[in-house]
Amino acid sequence: MKSDKKVQELVDSYGDWWNHGFAIPKMTKKLYPYTNLFSPIKVNSVTIKNRIVMGPMGNINMCDETGRPNSKMLKYFEARAAGGVGLITSGLIPISYGIDKSLIELGDLTYFPRIDRSRTVFAGWRDLAEICHSQGSKFFIQLTPGLGRVGNPQCLITQAKFPRSASNNPSWYIPQIPCLRLTDHSLKKIVKNAGQSAADAKAANIDGVYLHGHEGYLLEQVTNPAFNRRKIGRYANYELFGIDMVREIRRRCGTKYPIMYRIDLSLALNETYKDEMKKNKSLKKFKNGRTIEQTLTYMKHLVEAGVDMFDVDLGCYDNWWLPHPPSSMPAGCFLDIAEIAKKYFKDNNIKANTGLEVPVVGVGKLGYPDLAEKALRDQKCDMIMLARPLLADPDWANKAYKGEPEDIIPCIGCQEGCLNEFVEGGHPQCAVNPRTAFEEELTKEIPEAEVKKNVAVIGAGPAGITAAEVLIKRGHTVTIFEKNSTIGGQLLAGSKAKIKYGVANYLLYLQHLLNKLEKTGKLKVKLNTEAKVEEIKAAKFDSIIVSAGAHNNKFPIKGIDNENVFFAVDVLINPEIVKDYTNIAVVGGGVVGAETAYMLAYEYDKKPFVIEMDEYIMNHVCTANRGHIIHYLKEKGVKLYNMTRCLEMKKDAIVVSQNIDKNVPNPYLTTNPILPENVENPLAKNPKDKYVTKTLNCDAIILAMGVSPNDQLYYDLVAAKAAPEINLIGDAFKSAKVHQATRSAYRKARTI
Ligand SMILES: Cc1cc2nc3c(=O)[nH]c(=O)nc-3n(C[C@H](O)[C@H](O)[C@H](O)COP(=O)(O)O)c2cc1C
Ligand code: SF4
Repeated sequence: MKSDKKVQELVDSYGDWWNHGFAIPKMTKKLYPYTNLFSPIKVNSVTIKNRIVMGPMGNINMCDETGRPNSKMLKYFEARAAGGVGLITSGLIPISYGIDKSLIELGDLTYFPRIDRSRTVFAGWRDLAEICHSQGSKFFIQLTPGLGRVGNPQCLITQAKFPRSASNNPSWYIPQIPCLRLTDHSLKKIVKNAGQSAADAKAANIDGVYLHGHEGYLLEQVTNPAFNRRKIGRYANYELFGIDMVREIRRRCGTKYPIMYRIDLSLALNETYKDEMKKNKSLKKFKNGRTIEQTLTYMKHLVEAGVDMFDVDLGCYDNWWLPHPPSSMPAGCFLDIAEIAKKYFKDNNIKANTGLEVPVVGVGKLGYPDLAEKALRDQKCDMIMLARPLLADPDWANKAYKGEPEDIIPCIGCQEGCLNEFVEGGHPQCAVNPRTAFEEELTKEIPEAEVKKNVAVIGAGPAGITAAEVLIKRGHTVTIFEKNSTIGGQLLAGSKAKIKYGVANYLLYLQHLLNKLEKTGKLKVKLNTEAKVEEIKAAKFDSIIVSAGAHNNKFPIKGIDNENVFFAVDVLINPEIVKDYTNIAVVGGGVVGAETAYMLAYEYDKKPFVIEMDEYIMNHVCTANRGHIIHYLKEKGVKLYNMTRCLEMKKDAIVVSQNIDKNVPNPYLTTNPILPENVENPLAKNPKDKYVTKTLNCDAIILAMGVSPNDQLYYDLVAAKAAPEINLIGDAFKSAKVHQATRSAYRKARTI
């Protein structure tokens, strides 16, 4: 089994990356002014005003039923272009309808925008290109040959058609479903479609096309021997499909039209899963992935065929935390990978057919201006790509240019609003920016209220602070009551582990925002002040918002009050309280429990294990986020017990009831996703109830059993008629995530 030394080194470092040269990033401006970031670059015939590329993020459900980009999509991109980005790219736009069966849903509908259609859809693309141009940005469209094995296999039920791939590959969602092998004829049809779509894009004034060749999508399924195991026909040569596409685009669009190509230098499967590659039924098939050397040779051939520019990353769906690096991955995780490609082009004097150098774009958690500028200065890459950082803050580039990085809203890597919305059938949004993808509905300038009010906001978590910001912009005066000595609410505990640096930066941003709001004279923040019904009523507020967060669940289990039992939030805030313990049981394998175990194992050298009642560890968490944590918990030897209930807590042990049925899912499985609850897997084998009692030795127990809303204060305020209007938002309404908290706060406050 081949593995790349550099890839292995990187993959091995992603568990405790802070010990391997990756720094914890901050929104500093040590390298300001950002002369490299804000210098122009020429790609083929097009000049891009700066080195910032907006990464492609699927614009699903941002189009009408024909696939024409709608006003949601236009306004969303306009905000990013106005925010100063040099090059905007669309999310993936399929060009293989009728061939890739997973693209069509019941009723012949698709959630993707389309360009491979009649003139019906062109107006949307023309408008979009025009909008980006008016703001000084260039716009490339990302064309994808399709999804193949990583597409929705429901086509088997809705159309009685199997999904398709380069070879007989298992579906990523339901590995028991095989994909049928695409014929050379079908692949040639996709090549033709690529040329036609590119010609249409050019006619629509789109500045270039961008081929979606990474992450194990269909283009990569055909161009990587891991997935393409064809023995006969033209495309048994894994390079030719990509090369044919590029040649066809060149034939249709001429020599001056920019072509960008997205590629992973390695799937990193052998390096991630090592010996498991031989045991896991799906992985076994994929062990022959392109090495870095093979990828570089392929890139050279693509340049010869006409590619002008690349962006490079690592990984695929089966180790999804790589192409979608979550909160727990390091900032700048793929810069070394970009550097390899850049150096290869330089050392081998490989130039584009125009004679220009082939720019390499770096990607992966680069949303910190100092880090981005340093990557360019260190010659790691020629441009930097920002995907989620521009969902979090569309004005990233303008703020960096002005030297105001502390005003940038940082992405926290949660993927709640972006990737998870995408997977669950919404459209991309953002947990820390409630306007993202609602720009057409929620104007940037918040309208002034006709009647100015005196408003109490109870709780200084993300919901309370978001509400306060909007209320002040509407002209109201606000008093925030916070019972703790610091702001942050639930996020405070969630910001302490090293892997939660994104949240720590978000808290710094929220504090900075409050400081600015306080200077308006319209905000008072009362820390260490518990809101009492009578006092609030006596203060005669016109309006009250209760955003008092949530409290930890504690269930009546024998021994739960023992002195060796702690709440996870208390341990996260002050790990010293478990300093005298080593073998620690974490009860609850949701995100808090799993991250607590991670912190204890990696930062404090403890030996935690996790028990969880549910079938899955970290259920309802984005597959990329749970994959990273679970994979590296396994690497560290942390035992995970799913379908296991706590019966009793003792001084030296925990008594549990564990389901040992053979169909209990493997808690460490990270190659495939957990299906959303509304999707039934007809092939799933449900575990029977086969519970046995076990005693597991431990010296301390940590409770991570979820939280419940702090809503009593709201009901008491209502009963006391404490103000003419009283609202309940955030965690206090329904224990939720940052995404729901900020969104509800923003929308409610706009109506007060
Ligand atoms: C919601 C969402 C959708 C994405 N869709 C695409 C896509 O359509 N095409 C693509 O090549 N990458 C897609 N990506 C990957 C991003 O382009 C990017 O590589 C990744 O988010 C890492 O960059 P970042 O750390 O700057 O976000 C998507 C990412 C997110 C969060
Ligand atoms: S939803 Fe979370 S991960 Fe996605 S862009 Fe927003 S903050 Fe970043």
